[in-house]
Amino acid sequence: MKISTMNIEKIRVDFPILSRKVNGHPLVYFDNAATSQTPSTVINAIVDYYQKYNANIHRGVHTLSQEATEAYEEARETIRAHFNAKKKEEIIFTSGTTHGINLVANGFASEIKKGEEILVSALEHHSNIVPWQMLCQKTGAKLRVIPMTEEGELDMNTFYDLLSEKTKLVFLNHVSNALGTINPIEEIIQKAHQKNAAVLIDGAQAAPHIQADVQQLDVDFYVVSAHKMCGPTGVGILYGKEEWLNKLPPYQGGGEMIDQVSFEKTTYAGLPHKFEAGTPNICGGIAFGKAIDYLHEIGFDTIAEYEHELLTYATEKLLEIEGMKIFGTSVKKTAVISFNIEGMHPYDIGTIVDKLGIAVRTGHHCAQPIMDYYKIPGTVRASFSFYNTKSEIDSFVKAVKRAKIMLS
Ligand code: ALA
Repeated sequence: MKISTMNIEKIRVDFPILSRKVNGHPLVYFDNAATSQTPSTVINAIVDYYQKYNANIHRGVHTLSQEATEAYEEARETIRAHFNAKKKEEIIFTSGTTHGINLVANGFASEIKKGEEILVSALEHHSNIVPWQMLCQKTGAKLRVIPMTEEGELDMNTFYDLLSEKTKLVFLNHVSNALGTINPIEEIIQKAHQKNAAVLIDGAQAAPHIQADVQQLDVDFYVVSAHKMCGPTGVGILYGKEEWLNKLPPYQGGGEMIDQVSFEKTTYAGLPHKFEAGTPNICGGIAFGKAIDYLHEIGFDTIAEYEHELLTYATEKLLEIEGMKIFGTSVKKTAVISFNIEGMHPYDIGTIVDKLGIAVRTGHHCAQPIMDYYKIPGTVRASFSFYNTKSEIDSFVKAVKRAKIMLS
């Protein structure tokens, strides 16, 4: 299926929220990089769970518990197949990307020593900076930064210079949340492995647009959140290679992650349960599986092609506005446009377009080092999804022009 003018209308019907009005105007939702909207099939799965088989999993012999366990494990299998992990045990349910990163960072405390190094990219979200800083404080390891270029790309020559026998771990995002840059993760993973360094990829912003194949990438860890992929908030997964997950210690202690408990000694459960202490977001996990099914019904190639069309169209139209500066001009980017208009504060633009029903994010986008690089306090960020349209872009451009007049 190719998204055409005809079936985009059909797709939009799948998302009830898209028909609401905001401040008296039809909602134009361009904050998809913050969170995506939810199709009825996912909403129905949530309602269905609570109406028909709400129960705790892996614990009860009763029918409801078994039905819930089966649905949750089916979702794990859907997610495994989507990312092409070798085994279901390599898929750990988390509360989202931040949880997945913290889990690995915590585990690496026993893997990294004083004097060793970890490399981070300058394009990171705070959630992929702060946990590693905490790890460095704990272990005495050194954090080194792969710098960025004016286009919002990684400076690969410096990456090669920084990579050494001391490097134990490299972590970066697949796609920058603030700029949309698609990073050359294949090359980075390959080069890091040549130095025996492990690689963690934050896939939160890539996952709604690009289907990552973790075996083909040969990545050690890949983390995502469901809510960027048409799923609910509060759930995500950590993919980890089985050998790594076996090596790392549990992140949290509690029910379900144990094998035997006594006051003298506790032994841990096998994968994936070793990392899944406590009652998880059962309904969220099931709904995440449904969201992935939904995205596949449309098709990731179709999504990427259509969103690229939206990106090209919006870039052209926005650049017609005098004083417009777009940050992040890599040729390889997802449908994200971060911009400022000369002499205007991004917050003011965001507030005015909201009055016209348009949702964009303004500010530093949890990526202050990027803003520091450009010497700006923040940007206006419009991020598109496959359910957006060119006519919504026209409304947005008109609203930005209006904001510009009001603020001049
Ligand atoms: N990480 C999310 C964003 O980029 C919240 O907006």
